Amino acid sequence: MPNDPEFATLEPISEEDREDLLDDGLLREPRAFVFMECYRTSSFPFVLLDHSLQVVWANEAFLALFGKAATIVGSSVIKPFQPYLDEEKGGQLYRQVRSAENGYSWRGRVESRARDFPAIIANLMIAPLAMPNGSLPRGYIGVLDIITDQIHLLLHGTFQSLLEASRLKDDDTGQHVQRVGEYSKVISEALFLREGYEEIDRDFVDEIDFIAAMHDVGKIGTPDTILHKPGPLDEWEWAIMKEHTINGAFILSTYPNPMARQIALSHHECWDGSGYPFALAGTTIPLAARIVAIADVYDALRMPRTYKPAFTHERASSEIISQAGTHFDPALVSVFEQRHVAFREIFSRRWDPNDR
Ligand SMILES: [Fe+2]
Ligand SMILES: [Fe+2]
Repeated sequence: MPNDPEFATLEPISEEDREDLLDDGLLREPRAFVFMECYRTSSFPFVLLDHSLQVVWANEAFLALFGKAATIVGSSVIKPFQPYLDEEKGGQLYRQVRSAENGYSWRGRVESRARDFPAIIANLMIAPLAMPNGSLPRGYIGVLDIITDQIHLLLHGTFQSLLEASRLKDDDTGQHVQRVGEYSKVISEALFLREGYEEIDRDFVDEIDFIAAMHDVGKIGTPDTILHKPGPLDEWEWAIMKEHTINGAFILSTYPNPMARQIALSHHECWDGSGYPFALAGTTIPLAARIVAIADVYDALRMPRTYKPAFTHERASSEIISQAGTHFDPALVSVFEQRHVAFREIFSRRWDPNDR
């Protein structure tokens, strides 16, 4: 909890006090009943809160959102958001709802995550309900405006443009980036169902498709003479080529999901520490980047290159399998082995023979 002296005075009310509250207190406030009536069937999640921001009553929309994840009535309104409220924001919230200067109100962006459900992003407004004899509010109302979809649309719109810009520059890869996104999702979905991969939640699975497609956006900063050089690269050119990982991480550092930066930075790292840019090894390489490494290489093998023919699915698969424990995370290669048919299907569905 925020290390805030104001907050320390906000003791949770006892069960006994709660009974009193229900009998004689907040719910007797005529305004409380008006709000309850107005918001009972509203699509805006709404709560009535006691003086310590504990939920006294929640409407159906609120319960539908959080009822599954937490005991709402009797717990703090910010409980679902608490892990994602930094100390500064949490402290500000508690100070403002007890400050006449701020109208005993707070408004801000909050988010909640649970492994089995997509993240919820919302604007939360807390306002005073009853202030007997000019003292501190005896209760509050809390209203959520869910903005998850708007945020995703805005983000995807912005970064889709970036992706298009990078494809214009690196124009020889056709639908490679989309395919890499789709393969990555296949592996993530399988891991979501496996023990030991708690960091893979619903959002990870839902977002990796789009984010993995941006793995090479850093090539925007690679000179055309190097990017499109027909022959093998000289050592110094290769050094510049490798910088697309660091450039990509820089470009994607503003993307709210850290997975974007991790993938851009580490998709060329190898399990045995022989990769770049930092020669990370094993699980020090972020999981999302280990997934994309397999997806990226499988697809590159399937495509014809000036220096090699297009590999068949069988040849590309055995190449991936042979590099378990050297280039790739062996546990992820075992997932690839189970799901390789999906890879073949994605490639043939999204392969245009005009791609070079
Ligand atoms: Fe790359
Ligand atoms: Fe790639």
